[in-house]
Amino acid sequence: MQASQQYIQENKDRFLNELLEILRIPSISADPSYKGNVRNAAEWVAHNLQSAGADYVRLEETAGHPIVYGEKMIDATAPTVLVYGHYDVQPADPLHLWDSPPFEPVVKDGVIYGRGTCDDKGQFFMHIKAFEAMWKSGELKCNVKFMIEGEEEIGSDHLGVFVKENKDLLKADVILISDTAIIANDIPSIDVGLRGLSYIEVKVQGPNKDLHSGVYGGAVANPVNILCQMIASLQDEFNRITIPGFYEDVQELDASERAAMAQTPFDLEQYQKELGIAAVHGESGYTTLERASIRPTLDVNGIWGGYIGEGAKTVLPSVAHAKISMRLVPNQSSDKITELFKNHFLSIAPKGVQVTVTPHHGGEAYVMPTDSVAYQAAFEAMETTFGKTPVPTRGGGSIPIVALFEKELGIKSVLMGFGLDSDAIHSPNEHYGLFNFYKGIETIPYFFDNFYRLNQ
Ligand code: BES
Ligand code: MN
Ligand code: MN
Repeated sequence: MQASQQYIQENKDRFLNELLEILRIPSISADPSYKGNVRNAAEWVAHNLQSAGADYVRLEETAGHPIVYGEKMIDATAPTVLVYGHYDVQPADPLHLWDSPPFEPVVKDGVIYGRGTCDDKGQFFMHIKAFEAMWKSGELKCNVKFMIEGEEEIGSDHLGVFVKENKDLLKADVILISDTAIIANDIPSIDVGLRGLSYIEVKVQGPNKDLHSGVYGGAVANPVNILCQMIASLQDEFNRITIPGFYEDVQELDASERAAMAQTPFDLEQYQKELGIAAVHGESGYTTLERASIRPTLDVNGIWGGYIGEGAKTVLPSVAHAKISMRLVPNQSSDKITELFKNHFLSIAPKGVQVTVTPHHGGEAYVMPTDSVAYQAAFEAMETTFGKTPVPTRGGGSIPIVALFEKELGIKSVLMGFGLDSDAIHSPNEHYGLFNFYKGIETIPYFFDNFYRLNQ
């Protein structure tokens, strides 16, 4: 991989400048008013992929945002790596909390700031540049296919359809994804699990209009009060979820797996300090690392209703809303959990209000076996470039399409991400280290090389 590594060193600055270009395109998939920008980002990616040397590069149209596809098939007998990533990003709000505008990326003290720097533009782009380096220096040994989508942050619904309809096109031996984190820059790690997701919106309707809270207060159910009580009742004093049947299918880790997990480097004090919290909080009987990876959760993501303007307005609101997510673990079914939530939530509603439950997207959890060739290839690649043995970790986030890849295509995914949990993805001042960006580009060719060798 000498020539590829040299190519990378010689083109470092251009790689960064190209990344800054794609970061300037506000490809917010959730907001329909950004539709044109999302397409511009797709076109930019397609163009870059083509310049890097890929063939048959095209936008695959969907009922939503387009998917960028491209490939380089060099040898029918060689293994094929399918690279997946997403060029869409989360909305940048709240804007006033950013130190520099989210779509005007800046590099400061070795760190790139901007929406999408880590999630996932900075990460999927490493693959295009690593491919370019391998191809242009004559060191590409595996076939490679790229599938970079524009709807990951809104549930990948149309990619799911595309995958089901294009099983031949997507034939591969492994799927390689950089959309997760390592423990620290001097502690490389590989996510061997992702959580599933069930996302739900609820509405509590009370009186047919906002009321004077003095005239009616005390006599009429207040939807905001009721909603708060209902949500609070979803967790008991041990922070366990009270929805009947919720834990029924949860895969428990055995003592040796938990002991192995307890070996994962983790500094509780630093964790609390970074987040500005005086104590951690969660399900009794589990460590912080376990709570944030192998245990299911229930969190309110947003809640609103009533008067939230300046000053005080005495009002008994007529309606209250909340968005609630449940992170799921292997063997739980997202559809089943959504159903259990719905039934339970409706059943605890008092007579004075009307409750509506609307499911949003969901997805299943995923685990990657560490005894696979693909894991080994990633493990050795990271070991080479970091000079340290990588640690297997279970991630707390979700990439629902990964479980679907396995179900529909029968292909496992390797989650070789290079971000840090502290990169503030989905938050103001999202950032990605130049160290991480370049380390990713340098590591990927070793993955390809190892994957080729281990398949012989
Ligand atoms: N890249 C993240 C997922 C992630 C982050 C996995 C960190 C592991 C560690 C991805 O873009 C994401 O944000 N996924 C969403 C799910 C989606 C359905 C909106 C998530 O996890 O909230
Ligand atoms: Mn992502
Ligand atoms: Mn994300």
